[in-house]
Formats: sequence, C-alpha cells, structure tokens
Amino acid sequence: MTSRPLANPAPAALADRAEFERAALEGLSRAPRAIPAKFLYDARGSQLFDQICELPEYYLTRTETRILHDCAPRIAELTGPGRALVEFGSGSSVKSRLLLDAMTDLAVYAPIDISREHLDATADKLRRDYPGLRVEPVCGDYMAIDTLPDSVPDARRLGFFPGSTIGNLTPDEAKAFLLRARRLLGDDGALVLGVDLRKDPALLHAAYNDSAGITAAFTLNLLRRMNRELDATFDLSGFAHEAFYNEEEGRIEIYFRSLRSQTAMVAGWRFMFAQGERVHTEYSYKYDIRTFAALVDGAGFRVGHTWIDDESLFAVHYLVAESKVD
Ligand SMILES: C[S@@+](CC[C@H](N)C(=O)[O-])C[C@H]1O[C@@H](n2cnc3c(N)ncnc32)[C@H](O)[C@@H]1O
Repeated sequence: MTSRPLANPAPAALADRAEFERAALEGLSRAPRAIPAKFLYDARGSQLFDQICELPEYYLTRTETRILHDCAPRIAELTGPGRALVEFGSGSSVKSRLLLDAMTDLAVYAPIDISREHLDATADKLRRDYPGLRVEPVCGDYMAIDTLPDSVPDARRLGFFPGSTIGNLTPDEAKAFLLRARRLLGDDGALVLGVDLRKDPALLHAAYNDSAGITAAFTLNLLRRMNRELDATFDLSGFAHEAFYNEEEGRIEIYFRSLRSQTAMVAGWRFMFAQGERVHTEYSYKYDIRTFAALVDGAGFRVGHTWIDDESLFAVHYLVAESKVD
C-alpha cells in the first residue's frame, strides 16, 4: 500500500483552492466587485455561522427551529416511510435532526455542503448519534450537482433547504436552484424549504449587525481565507463589515468596505482599494408569501403546506413536485 505524505493536500482540497482563486481574482477584477457567498464557508466560516445562529438578534434560527419542531410530525406523515432525505447547504445539520427524529425508517440521509471539513465532521457526529442511519455526505455546489451517490434511491426523495439559504440567491438563481432540485428529487419528490419573510427593516438590520460583532467576523473571514489560501496580504484592520436592508429590492446586502486607500496582493496579483470602496459578499432576500409562491410555481413545484410563526417572521413551506417541468 502506498501512502501520500501528509504535507501534500488532497486533490479535492487543491480543486477547492483553484476554484476559490479563480472566483476571487475574477470577482475583484470586475466592477462592481463581488465574491460569491459560498466562499464565506471554510471551516472557520461554518463555525462562525453556527455562532451567528445563537445570537439574540438572529431571530431566524430559533424561529425556524420552533416551526420545524411543531410541523416535523406532519412532514413525516405527508412523506411516509422509506424516504431518502437530501439536504441542501446542511451546515451542522442541527435542524435536520428534527426531521431525522420524526421520520423513522429513513433509507438514507444525504447532506450536501460546500464546506468540506465541516461536512465530514458533521457526518461523523451524525453516524455516532444515529447508529442505524446511513449518512452519505456530498461535498459540492448545490447549484451544480446533477446526480447523487448510487446509495441514495431514485424514488421517494425528500429535499430539505432550511436557514433561508435560498435568500442568498437572486430570484433568477433561486428559480434555477428549484428546477435543479426538482430534477434531483424526481417526480415523486418534495422539498421542505425555510424562507425569511419581509418585516420591519429595524429588525432585519439588527439581525445582520449584531452587537457582539460575529457577523462582521464572518464577513471579514473571507479576507482571512484569501490570506491563508491565496497568499493574499489583506490587513484586516483596514476593512469593515457593512450590511443594510435595500427596501426596494427586498434584500439585505452585505459587503466588506475598505476603510482607507490601500493595496493588497491576491495570488500574485495586486489590487487597489479606494477609501470607502465595497466588495459585495452576500445577499439575503426576504419574501412575502405570495411572491414566493409565484417563484416556486414557475420552477417545478407547488406549495403544498405552509407553516408560519405567530409573529409572521419566518415561513416553512412543504413543496410538492409538479409533474411537468419546463
Ligand atoms: C445559511 S447556512 C445554513 C446552514 C443550515 N442549513 C441552517 O439552516 O442552519 C448555508 C449553508 O449552505 C452552505 N452553502 C452555501 N453555498 C453553498 C453552495 N453553493 N453549495 C453547497 N453548499 C453551500 C454553507 O456551507 C452553509 O453550511
């Protein structure tokens, strides 16, 4: 048996790095500058996101968890036994446990996530906590995945897309995601999807500008990741997190902003940043129930059931695959 020296990164890690380098160089070379949100999630980014979920200002996680806690038995009833549960952007799979607990007799759980180390660690924890459950992690981009491992049966797939992660996508991207999920989940598929609702902008502003500065650390972790993986030379003290609600577009916009005129090297290329210049990192679209139903309608699903909390902060939808897909 041959063994690879530990110092050599695995091919998958090299491919991840190459993709990150391409996206960062391209995103910093265009105007206005933007780096796709998926690159916020390296191992540290995933840990910081878990901390965000615990923040008092971040009502999203606790509200969605409460809704799921109440509706999980009904979801299990609607889907029936023997399903494969396929999660998109699974993170620490905390909410998934509510479905795993309610859906006895699951064929397999396939969490899909871009954050490789975090996904593997989460899968190990789940195997320990659910010894009878087959866990098949898939590391990849859910905007690009066409097939699932052979161990995930083709029929009776239930998708799960919580966390209002769909809000990170523009409406066109969200539609493309839903069409892809529809193909992946099949004709008898269904999708449980959590989405943040439009609300008082002050509440939204607070959720993305927490007083402990964790969301800021999450945004600036992208610079730290470029320093580590792309030999970049960002001085983190020269940049700040910026997040605000754009009422007209119905979305939170997040950037890192240069606090002074400065330059930084990234993978051998020099970039200049003017004082006040912003680099976009993330959107978080907020939907009302009607607009979201219209989005879903043109994308291979129909809304079967909707659960909303008492304060109308957040919605969990049970989407049923339409027989015809465009
Ligand atoms: C907002 S977090 C939600 C995590 C978890 N589902 C929850 O509800 O708390 C988004 C998750 O999706 C993953 N992610 C983001 N973009 C992705 C992409 N394009 N493909 C696969 N995973 C992605 C991140 O690594 C992260 O775990």
